[in-house]
Amino acid sequence: MATSNGAVDLSLLDEVFEQYQGQHGALIPILQKAQDKYGYLPPEAISRIAKQLGISVSKVYGVATFYAQFYLERRGRHILRLCDGTACHVRGTPMLATAVEEQFGIKMGETTEDGELTAEVVYCIGSCALAPVAILDGEVMGRMKQDKLLRTIKKTIKAN
Ligand code: FES
Repeated sequence: MATSNGAVDLSLLDEVFEQYQGQHGALIPILQKAQDKYGYLPPEAISRIAKQLGISVSKVYGVATFYAQFYLERRGRHILRLCDGTACHVRGTPMLATAVEEQFGIKMGETTEDGELTAEVVYCIGSCALAPVAILDGEVMGRMKQDKLLRTIKKTIKAN
């Protein structure tokens, strides 16, 4: 979460630090809570956490980049993953990706300006019989078509 001028509101970390006060080795749970607050780990939060724990910023980055659960880039409220494994690629994922990129003004791997959608590419999730496969907020949707995908994304964004 950011303040109205776009800066990261570091006061959100105060209650996290309070919760883990005096606990050695609490870096990972603190990073998890911080990510819950911001949706990702902004550099300002990483620096603040390092200062609070009396460890180096590079150590915090080291841990944050080691675990796949942590994100250093801003993430959208909704996450779209398009499978681009061989079966899905052949059956149309590139066209799905282009449709999403054109409709939402982002490239794969990016998040929309309004923070609603992050679109990513994944490789074979083991549902090749359903190719091409899209996964929206964890829900697997098979035999996807461009118009249906765009409709579903817009409906999901509108509903939450
Ligand atoms: S290639 Fe997409 S599920 Fe296997």
